[in-house]
Amino acid sequence: MKLPAEPRLSPVTPRRRLHVITWGCQMNVYDSGRMADVLAPLGYTAADGPADADMVILNTCHIREKAAEKVFSELGRLRLIKEERAAAGKSTILAVAGCVAQAEGAEITARAPYVDIVLGPQTYHRLPEMVARAHRAAGPVIETDFPVEQKFDFLPEQQAAPGALTAFLTVQEGCDKFCSFCVVPYTRGAEASRPAASVLAEARRLVANGARELTLLGQNVNAYHGEGTDGRDWGLARLIRALAEIPGLVRLRYTTSHPRDMEDDLIAAHGDVPALMPFLHLPVQSGSDRILAAMNRKHTADDYRRLIDRLRAHRPDLALSSDFIIGHPGETAVDFAATMRLIEDIGFAQAYSFKYSARPGTPAAGAPGVVPEGEKDNRLAELQALLRDQQTAFNAECTGRVIDVLVTHAGRRPGQLGGRSPYLQAIHFDGPMTLLGEVVPVKITHTSTNSLSAALIFTPSKQELAPA
Ligand code: 5AD
Ligand code: SF4
Repeated sequence: MKLPAEPRLSPVTPRRRLHVITWGCQMNVYDSGRMADVLAPLGYTAADGPADADMVILNTCHIREKAAEKVFSELGRLRLIKEERAAAGKSTILAVAGCVAQAEGAEITARAPYVDIVLGPQTYHRLPEMVARAHRAAGPVIETDFPVEQKFDFLPEQQAAPGALTAFLTVQEGCDKFCSFCVVPYTRGAEASRPAASVLAEARRLVANGARELTLLGQNVNAYHGEGTDGRDWGLARLIRALAEIPGLVRLRYTTSHPRDMEDDLIAAHGDVPALMPFLHLPVQSGSDRILAAMNRKHTADDYRRLIDRLRAHRPDLALSSDFIIGHPGETAVDFAATMRLIEDIGFAQAYSFKYSARPGTPAAGAPGVVPEGEKDNRLAELQALLRDQQTAFNAECTGRVIDVLVTHAGRRPGQLGGRSPYLQAIHFDGPMTLLGEVVPVKITHTSTNSLSAALIFTPSKQELAPA
């Protein structure tokens, strides 16, 4: 993660070093950046590692199994570093943030009393105050409330590293869906949306700093309903249409969505907003109606098929990604076959798949019909083989086509550039560094499961070949 550039500080502000360890989703990556932003005015800049840091933040993820155990084992390692620093006369503030902090705050302070700060995802704006209290306090400082609007109101604007060509932008947090297997509604709280004016202001700043592509983030991003700049309620499509007007912003994406929240206007936006990329991550989790009902997903497999048909009617080249859970309690071989059928019917460009793991406190934990591990392993292997074949085939179909690539970085070889296609595929090709940040057409020459090779279809001018 990039920390902000050295801020302008008063001569009395102490210079301090911060090390942030980030686990989990893109939302956590974004949050880690924001925590660094909030701490910058206190004099915190990037440390080389935990041993060099006056403050270490462990930003945690709770979505899958053994999350808490992983946190305690990492804390054990950090405790040793803190003790070594103390022996050398240096103090270290140790903070645990993110979803494990939210869910297990009390256990953390009981089992790891050397932790100074425990903060849930909604309280990052209070970090400076917590740091000051940690300096004074005898015991740990815990903040795990859910005042989401406050968090959005108080966070400073994102200090994007100048030159970042792609950036994340949180527009929504939390989830009210209560899927049977999921901890998010308990750790991230209820759905809350950020006002459009504040999203637009942050987007303009990011673009002014060089961003060409923005990915709008939210646990349930298409449930976005925020206050519009006209004082009315705006859905995600309205927000996307306003963002697409920002000069210099060429690509927009959003993640993660729920099928139930794909409103008509958002489906239409896929057809009529050119900046909205033809790639959608839309988790379905299962293809069996029985399991979808047990999961409390509130849609059927056919609802999902119809939704994809409608999206493709607006945007025929839409590429799809999804999440699948294998072995939810009650899943039989027949249910699994229905999931395989759905995958065959839709055809995914890529997807994520997970073995079900019980999360304490969720309705599915302790439900009857536990699927044996060996059976889960077999089903997962079969499902992943099919998804891999689909991904390989999707990439292979691109061979010989001309595709626009947003050039985002230098490749590994000298003279090589890397970027991403509208469908989020990694593309490599030879070209001059002056193309960084440009969208250029390339012809796809070779493909594999994970990336595409390509060639520029125009000869760069002398000026473009000049060193950047
Ligand atoms: N077990 C397995 N996978 C899970 N996910 C969420 N909770 C669990 C769980 N208990 C997966 C879902 C979700 C993704 C982010 O993680 O597929 O969409
Ligand atoms: Fe979890 Fe997503 Fe379901 Fe919300 S919609 S409960 S975040 S899986």
